[in-house]
Amino acid sequence: MIHLGVNIDHVATVRQARRADEPDPVHAAVFCELGGADGITVHVREDRRHIQDRDLRLLRQTVRGTLNLELAPRESGGVMDLALEVGPDQVCLVPEHRAELTTEGGLAVSADDAKLRGAIDRLKARGCLISLFIEPDPATVAAAAAVGADAIELHTGTWANAWAACKGRAGDAKLERERARLRDAAHEAGERGLRLHAGHGIGYANVGELLALPLLREVNIGHSIVSRAVLVGMERAVREMKTLLG
Ligand code: PXP
Repeated sequence: MIHLGVNIDHVATVRQARRADEPDPVHAAVFCELGGADGITVHVREDRRHIQDRDLRLLRQTVRGTLNLELAPRESGGVMDLALEVGPDQVCLVPEHRAELTTEGGLAVSADDAKLRGAIDRLKARGCLISLFIEPDPATVAAAAAVGADAIELHTGTWANAWAACKGRAGDAKLERERARLRDAAHEAGERGLRLHAGHGIGYANVGELLALPLLREVNIGHSIVSRAVLVGMERAVREMKTLLG
């Protein structure tokens, strides 16, 4: 069974649009879990544009499944200290740029990156399982293993864009290329003993295709679930995705 992590950043984005106290991502997480989510994912960004420190602290107390924190592997902004204080079950290290709308591209990883290795070691010592959000590229998968990651989350954004452009049509050259990249990276993760996760751009229409990805254990999905939740409610939106995951 594939683990479904629901990313609830967008719930906090709506709240921050008015600097108000609703909707509360902590409440949203409860409905995600009632709908069958196996975990809750949040990204505490350096600029705190959506999820706040208070959200993470409360989620640590309320989430029953896996609490997965996305953060950039750097000291500025106090997010690393917050992670070490709160102790999420899982940390996904991501690149972060102030001007981006969402996480664009995967983390640059090289086997001899002492800073990255140091961040991983500190978080592991706190008991967090470490995942690196990377492009589907076998060399980057190998580097992730070398710096001590437990898991990789393959950035599926380019695949999702290719899928959307042709509606998943078999034989589309761009989509076939992206499918092959995901397969090759998945294979390398298996060879290196890394857990395989995927995230970005995954929705109700395209998720079925990922089920064929060998060794896939976890998907992290935000935009499509929260978008559906606005119309049908969070619990139902999550349950519908969970059903598609089988
Ligand atoms: N995984 C990671 C590492 C992300 O940064 C994001 C976006 O915040 C997601 C998954 C979820 O992507 P989406 O919102 O497109 O489902």
